[in-house]
Amino acid sequence: MITRIQWLALPAMLVWGLTCFAQPSNMEQVRSLAPFVPSPQPIVERMLSAANLKPGETLFDLGCGDGRVLITAAKKFGAKAVGIELSPKLVEAANEEIKANHLEDQVKVIQGDLMETDLSSADVVTIYLLTHSNDKLRPNLERYLKRGARVVSHDFQVRGWKPIRVDKLEVYRRTHSIYVYEMPVER
Ligand SMILES: C[S@@+](CC[C@H](N)C(=O)[O-])C[C@H]1O[C@@H](n2cnc3c(N)ncnc32)[C@H](O)[C@@H]1O
Repeated sequence: MITRIQWLALPAMLVWGLTCFAQPSNMEQVRSLAPFVPSPQPIVERMLSAANLKPGETLFDLGCGDGRVLITAAKKFGAKAVGIELSPKLVEAANEEIKANHLEDQVKVIQGDLMETDLSSADVVTIYLLTHSNDKLRPNLERYLKRGARVVSHDFQVRGWKPIRVDKLEVYRRTHSIYVYEMPVER
């Protein structure tokens, strides 16, 4: 038999159940290290030039959003580019852009969790996450990245690492910071 308290709790449980059901992916929320906020194009270009990205090198954009970093890396710098993105919708958008630019041979997007990515083939890693997300990612970067690999972070430092270069750039009336690190990193 349903008690009075259970009857009272029923609407709240229903709302909770519906909310959970309506979320496209609960797992996406659990694993999310940052919301989608695209880097402005001038920032993307400065990140890649500050990293000294060279033709034929491999770039990983961890949390690649709509793929703009990947496309710029391939088109303007002649690099190979791999993007990891949690959101299936953003993966779809990135793939459409890659196709429209005929970059399928140079650029690949993987739908998944950047924390589970093997980064050993990366020459350059770009990130636009949050400071506490960088804290979580740092052990992976230290574990996987080879000597000479560069990490470029938009706006958020990797705590405990000394950058080899910091650029400040004003775009649309906001000053953006770009932090460049090189492996093995000075602390
Ligand atoms: C601030 S946006 C940066 C997008 C792009 N890198 C840029 O600079 O324009 C962060 C992206 O990371 C993605 N993201 C967050 N957590 C993630 C995770 N654990 N694995 C893969 N992608 C993730 C978000 O969906 C979002 O697209």
